[in-house]
Amino acid sequence: TYVVTDACIRCKYMDCVEVCPVDCFYEGENMLVISPSQCIDCGVCEPECPPEAIHPDSDPGMEGWVKFNAEYAEKWPNIFMKKDPPTDAAEWDGVPDKYPAQFS
Ligand code: SF4
Ligand code: F3S
Repeated sequence: TYVVTDACIRCKYMDCVEVCPVDCFYEGENMLVISPSQCIDCGVCEPECPPEAIHPDSDPGMEGWVKFNAEYAEKWPNIFMKKDPPTDAAEWDGVPDKYPAQFS
């Protein structure tokens, strides 16, 4: 399965939502997550994300994000259509470590 990481925070471009064949993204205020039980591991979303926030869960250092995606996919609402990104999305694109150090 694939996971969304902190590079998404406050960028939230939602290009990923447009390409996902199974609509398995869930929307928080500042970022999205992927439902691990619904993702079919197709990988189509990964190259579509401008800040490269989406990674395979097998990548090094993903343990915290695997838990985060699983937890919040159960709590946040499904998103299946792209909306307008935040107006300051470009300012957050590439900012490192947007989530506190517990995931490092
Ligand atoms: Fe959707 Fe495929 Fe990305 Fe999984 S890997 S979230 S199924 S586009
Ligand atoms: Fe986030 Fe990238 Fe999707 S910034 S909303 S994971 S396209």
